[in-house]
Amino acid sequence: MNDVTLRGGRRVPSLGLGTWRIGERAGQRSQEVAAIRRAVQIGYRLFDTAEMYGDGGAEEVLGQGLGDCIAAGEVRCEDLLVVSKVLPGNASRRGVAQACARSLERLRVERIDLYLLHWRGAVPLDETVEAMERLSAEGVIGAWGVSNFDVADMEELWALAAGSACVANQVYYSVAERGIEFDLLPWERQRQVAAMAYCPIGQGALAAHRTLARLGEARDLTAAQIALAWVLRQPDVIAIPKALSDAHQRENWAAANVTLSKAELAAIDAAFPPPRRKRALAMT
Ligand SMILES: NC(=O)c1ccc[n+]([C@@H]2O[C@H](COP(=O)([O-])OP(=O)(O)OC[C@H]3O[C@@H](n4cnc5c(N)ncnc54)[C@H](OP(=O)(O)O)[C@@H]3O)[C@@H](O)[C@H]2O)c1
Repeated sequence: MNDVTLRGGRRVPSLGLGTWRIGERAGQRSQEVAAIRRAVQIGYRLFDTAEMYGDGGAEEVLGQGLGDCIAAGEVRCEDLLVVSKVLPGNASRRGVAQACARSLERLRVERIDLYLLHWRGAVPLDETVEAMERLSAEGVIGAWGVSNFDVADMEELWALAAGSACVANQVYYSVAERGIEFDLLPWERQRQVAAMAYCPIGQGALAAHRTLARLGEARDLTAAQIALAWVLRQPDVIAIPKALSDAHQRENWAAANVTLSKAELAAIDAAFPPPRRKRALAMT
């Protein structure tokens, strides 16, 4: 599996585990904690979460699962990379610091490695950037970034004094949602802003796509693995599929080592044509 180097030098794995829709029901908690622990045992080290998911429930499940692994000696805290996100409604100078403190407590860590603004809201960007920079200086977060930012938002961010300290932008990217290839991805490449692809399996829908299934059958792979290998074909893109089931976690882990041939890539381009003009940023 590739590592992606964030600006500033930190190397992160190109495949992580998403946690949306985890931590929503108390009755599922032990099963979800066990799934996090199994992911660590499989080899996952990058975990994506947000204060929004399950109203903090996903961060709690993740914190418990990772904490159990650390206590059992299965992983060292410093080898894990935890990504979380602040809601736009909490993105003010004081709000970011307070939201981050709550997330740290739920996650049971002393530092969030990468802290993102979940999407743009009413708070002026410079306030959020100032708050992120303060948390970085205090060592409470390792680095900060944004999510659901299109080129115009990134330009606005870059115009701010410390805006270019942003190291990542998490956006919807999959074979079926290729709009960012037209402008956002090249813009970010020029500035070494890592693209984190959410919904790389189209929230599960691409696992049933006929073209992807046909390509997979020829190599004893699943459609989901083809979809994931396609996102990961680019050395500077990080993918964070969410998978709770044992089979899905293992399938996705194996997909990170699949290289698609030119013919396979051409078949995917035919089924999912690359963008020829600007498209609105896809969002869930
Ligand atoms: N920044 C943002 O605004 C934003 C928005 C959306 C998502 N995200 C992040 O990105 C992560 C991924 O996005 P997502 O969860 O919406 O969608 P996704 O990862 O594309 O799809 C997740 C769904 O696909 C299923 N799945 C996973 N691996 C599979 C496989 N190999 N074969 C068949 N089905 C498979 C999962 O099932 P099981 O769980 O049952 O295994 C789950 O139902 C989220 O969890 C979240 O961390 C961020």
